[in-house]
Amino acid sequence: MKIRPAWGPLCGQVAVLGDKSISHRALILGALSEGTLQVANLSDGADVASTRSCLQELGVRFEESGGGELRVEGVGLDGLKAPASELDCGNSGTTMRLLMGVLAGQPFDSVLIGDASLSRRPMRRVGDPLSRMGARIELSDGKAPVRIRGRRPLSGFAHRLEVPSAQVKSALLLAGLFADGETTIEDPFGTRDHTERMLSFLGAKCKVGGGVRAARISSGALKSGKRVTVPGDPSSAAFFAAAAAIVPGSSVSLKRVLLNPSRIGFYEVLREMGGLVEPDHGGVHGREPVGDIEARASSLRGVRVPAEAIPRLVDEIPLLAVLAARAAGPSRFEGLAELRLKESDRLEGTRAMLEAFGAGARIDGDALVLEGGAAFKGARIETLGDHRLAMAAAVAALAADGETELSDAGCVGISYPGFFGALEGLRG
Ligand code: S3P
Repeated sequence: MKIRPAWGPLCGQVAVLGDKSISHRALILGALSEGTLQVANLSDGADVASTRSCLQELGVRFEESGGGELRVEGVGLDGLKAPASELDCGNSGTTMRLLMGVLAGQPFDSVLIGDASLSRRPMRRVGDPLSRMGARIELSDGKAPVRIRGRRPLSGFAHRLEVPSAQVKSALLLAGLFADGETTIEDPFGTRDHTERMLSFLGAKCKVGGGVRAARISSGALKSGKRVTVPGDPSSAAFFAAAAAIVPGSSVSLKRVLLNPSRIGFYEVLREMGGLVEPDHGGVHGREPVGDIEARASSLRGVRVPAEAIPRLVDEIPLLAVLAARAAGPSRFEGLAELRLKESDRLEGTRAMLEAFGAGARIDGDALVLEGGAAFKGARIETLGDHRLAMAAAVAALAADGETELSDAGCVGISYPGFFGALEGLRG
């Protein structure tokens, strides 16, 4: 994929497709509920398709209904069937980790596999606490393939997250649906809470809060017979807000975007950098707040982002680093150890990308340090097959001097197949 710099302002509207995290949860929790869940604006990315095909292998039926909506025919907590073969999670960590929680509590065995990237990612963080609930899980050197000897009931337990991961928290809450007694997961990091919200929406016995940041769940049927519209993905919308910020004269409007506080750290940091970005709360979809976001060309200054802020913008670091590399003055992002464990080593991938564009970027322990004030030059960028690195590089390319070439740009289809078309649609 070759990208030429923008020759004029970006303007117009983007209605980004449904949030990836919420789409996974709508499919999984819809499948476990009694009745039909009608889902509108589901993500069309490959990761969510992986969750759908794994659930199909487990006997769940889906029906496309008019207007791009999908009907999930719930089978209830007792209705999943033993799969005939291995369940392929593709590139999707969310699929693998959330399904580990569900499958640990089934009366049958299963095996989860993934592509080369997913097979390098750590799974003990889910397998170990699940074992404390009585689950029997075999990993290969801590990684996939994941062999699960299902059993029911599991035992409810109390656990404090050791790593800031919503996938781990969600897997344990899902396992709690198949456990005796209560399961309490304390989340000192404040990771995204979509599982808790979707569980409550479907009538599960799930409570949040009570002094500490914790979610409690006990077994009990989920009831659907409902309709949910998945809010636009703020992590996808962020690429357009960033593009608008760095291309002079731009003004872009992002429609019906998820504004859950655990997901909008990017927009808050962009504002702190002097970015003209205005979220406007407009309503609630299911249990999730949504609204439109206006973003305009801005002159940005450097920023320091502490480790505590990272869970709320963990997927947006490569993009924020692009903005910070151009901003006036230095920037520092702290507490990025988790980035090394994403679809690629995203910390090193981000540093290398910025270096290729001619920006000063270095890694200091688990922090990323940017000199600021860079004028990007066109470059050849290795995306490492990582969708978020590819899209961040595409945004940087708009503000570069000369043409940029991305290796394996097709990887954007993991979360956003329509990305390049939507970006071109903003040409004046
Ligand atoms: C996700 C949680 C995050 C995030 C990923 C989606 C989720 O991962 O990076 O894109 O849907 O729960 P971790 O739980 O590993 O932090």
